[in-house]
Amino acid sequence: MKNIVITGFMGTGKSTVGQLVAARLGREFVDMDSLIEQREGRPISRIFAESGEAYFRQLEADLCRELSARAGLVIATGGGALVNPANLRQMETGGLVVCLDCQPDELWRRIGHSEDRPMLAERDADRFARLAALLEQRAPAYARIPHHVDVTHLSPDEAAAQICRQL
Ligand code: S3P
Repeated sequence: MKNIVITGFMGTGKSTVGQLVAARLGREFVDMDSLIEQREGRPISRIFAESGEAYFRQLEADLCRELSARAGLVIATGGGALVNPANLRQMETGGLVVCLDCQPDELWRRIGHSEDRPMLAERDADRFARLAALLEQRAPAYARIPHHVDVTHLSPDEAAAQICRQL
């Protein structure tokens, strides 16, 4: 039984939707960011601040390898995890990968004021511009993912239902 891997930009609801998909299918759910935080004993924001982004990306790559060797899981990735094509290939070996898409204005409504996202760390007037720029920069990477669900106007439950139908 292949893993179902849920990815997409920050704020698209990967963790909430992933949990709902796992519950619908009676599968085990793994949240990559939570597992990394648990193993490191510190939140993602501190991993970035104390050890740097490259260190965090290495943890992500190692975890992609580890999880893709397992089966039957529903996995929510961090928003940047599958931007690295090697990680996407890895996840695709044992899994169906689905990307949650969302319009920038709605993403801004959801995460514009969040405190715990190091990729949007600076809380200045340019924050929306940086969110939009990062989204644009990552668009080609997300476009490589085979399955997409646009969650802009969907509740987490509706998104989970659509994923289960689509896969
Ligand atoms: C990141 C997204 C975060 C987390 C880290 C880096 C990114 O996860 O993995 O802060 O590069 O987009 P969420 O997408 O769950 O916020």
